[in-house]
Amino acid sequence: MKLAKYVKFRAEKFGGVLFETRSEKVFTLNPTATAVIREIESGAAESELADRVKAQFDGNGERDRARGRRVPGRPPRQGPRRGLMPVAEGPATATAPARAEPESQHLSAPLYVAWQITNECNLACMHCIEESGPGKRFKDELTEEQVFSVLEQMMALEIPYLSFSGGEPMLHPHFFAMAEYVCARGSQLKVETNGHFLTPENCARLRDIGVKAVQVSLDGASRPTFNRIRVLRRIRPLRRGHSPPA
Ligand SMILES: C[S@@+](CC[C@H](N)C(=O)[O-])C[C@H]1O[C@@H](n2cnc3c(N)ncnc32)[C@H](O)[C@@H]1O
Ligand code: SF4
Repeated sequence: MKLAKYVKFRAEKFGGVLFETRSEKVFTLNPTATAVIREIESGAAESELADRVKAQFDGNGERDRARGRRVPGRPPRQGPRRGLMPVAEGPATATAPARAEPESQHLSAPLYVAWQITNECNLACMHCIEESGPGKRFKDELTEEQVFSVLEQMMALEIPYLSFSGGEPMLHPHFFAMAEYVCARGSQLKVETNGHFLTPENCARLRDIGVKAVQVSLDGASRPTFNRIRVLRRIRPLRRGHSPPA
């Protein structure tokens, strides 16, 4: 058995967390459920799964106690009481809880990071909350080295789901390399774009890289409204796409 590609597991102090990236549902796992997932990840056959997990906890948990792990059947007092417990409908973050809880209940890192990778944009939409536009790239945007250092840190933290937005993310000089980096390391990536650069070639490239989703903004229910709001933009080219400047 193996975990599906779209299901991401990460070990946590309290056990583990599963992120089902298609539905964006998050499940916390107690130590026993974590052991089951680890066995599935290691390719254990279905027929031997129960025995393999049981073997880990034989001796009334003495071996695990010796390793400082929690004993099966005795979950943390404020921790998950069942093996699998949905905790959120959407991507969760590791924001501090409203009241103090034992540290072991905290996520070790966010499960979702939304990164506005540049403030540069080919459009200048009337409503743009970022006030992005041509020539609006921030002077202190990260260098190539810094970008990949941040990505490496996020991959080391096993953040399962990222999105690239902006500004127009496809205008970032290292956009495709960044997307490739994230997908090659097993995280899921969503790209939020105005669609201007979604040429057939670029769409194929995104598919081949393994990008999970591309979100294209449509502002307005009709062409005139869309064109009025999306300044510098005409809706017809959206269907064909343009190549980003070299
Ligand atoms: C800031 S844009 C960046 C990504 C890309 N340039 C695009 O337009 O999709 C991300 C999304 O935020 C939306 N947006 C921008 N300004 C907004 C505002 N003031 N209120 C609500 N949504 C806004 C855009 O319409 C777009 O769907
Ligand atoms: S395309 Fe996106 S980032 Fe660019 S101006 Fe419009 S809303 Fe802002």
